Amino acid sequence: MGTCVVRLPIIFNSTTDLLGQGNAGQVFRVRLPGNRIFALKRFLPSLDRTDFDNEARVLEELEDNPHPCISLPIQSWLEVDSAYIRFPLAETDLFKLIRTTAPPANILTTDENADRFFGRHLAGLCEALRYVHEARIGRQQRRRIGFHHDIKPANISIFPGGVWKLSDFVSGDIRFVGANEEIYNRRPSTWDRLYSAPEFVIEGRVSCPTDIWSLGAVFLEVLVWATLGGDAVQQFHDKRREYGGGRATFWSQDEAVPCLNPTVLKAMENLEARCVGLRPLTVLAEIIRKVLVVDVKDRWTAVKICDYRS
Ligand SMILES: Nc1ncnc2c1ncn2[C@@H]1O[C@H](COP(=O)(O)OP(=O)(O)O)[C@@H](O)[C@H]1O
Ligand SMILES: [Mg+2]
Repeated sequence: MGTCVVRLPIIFNSTTDLLGQGNAGQVFRVRLPGNRIFALKRFLPSLDRTDFDNEARVLEELEDNPHPCISLPIQSWLEVDSAYIRFPLAETDLFKLIRTTAPPANILTTDENADRFFGRHLAGLCEALRYVHEARIGRQQRRRIGFHHDIKPANISIFPGGVWKLSDFVSGDIRFVGANEEIYNRRPSTWDRLYSAPEFVIEGRVSCPTDIWSLGAVFLEVLVWATLGGDAVQQFHDKRREYGGGRATFWSQDEAVPCLNPTVLKAMENLEARCVGLRPLTVLAEIIRKVLVVDVKDRWTAVKICDYRS
């Protein structure tokens, strides 16, 4: 990608072309000469530009060996008071999908259909995460490790052809390290703690396992949507708040000790009952049981999930 200073004849209306916004910036639908349409992420003006610098750096690293389920940019640049990253345009994101559309009618009718849907999308995300967490790069097979640290439905973009991709690496990190080194983040996630894992409360830092927890939370929401529809996703959210101290986290605290949110436990039990007879869903439900685990030592890694599926 490479950061450069250029001024493109990009046309957009900052109100009507707004596609979405998070804590770091706003994303617009923009048009370039030749009627080519893209997504443009404009970072909020910030004195130190940390968010832009961080996302641009992580994406630049990931671009060297692109993964099909990671949303990669086309270009990034700086202007006087803002910074920009241009991406291919996605159709929607997973947050909007599971709240505003009905699940495809046939995905629960046969093992084959269920596998085509869940196998493709959820396995793709898991493979992408495995690749971010640890990879051997180049001829010298240098060890590269990383994390995303803001996995949630709004950060999963859905591209034409129904390809689900991990996006928004503002909170991520990636670096080349020695054999046993690990990297940590002292923040639970950027701002949104909803999908964060409970270990932050105990250890005051998080690493790759928090991504796995978040992915498990996303999988569970997708299954709730697939089996019960979009209204059930919102109800599940509201019900989690009752135990999450006003926040819809997937964990809660019992006398200050983190535990699985009882609403999540109930949702998993209901799901397991509904999945009987559909093998791909049973496997997914088993995986969710292994990743929404409070104790980091016992939580599965991305490698383990990918291996279990195959
Ligand atoms: N490539 C894209 N195409 C279309 N919409 C996108 C694209 N990337 C992000 N969005 C939308 O913009 C929102 C905010 O983008 P994101 O990169 O997550 O910014 P932030 O770091 O501020 O959270 C996303 O939740 C999604 O709805
Ligand atoms: Mg985001």
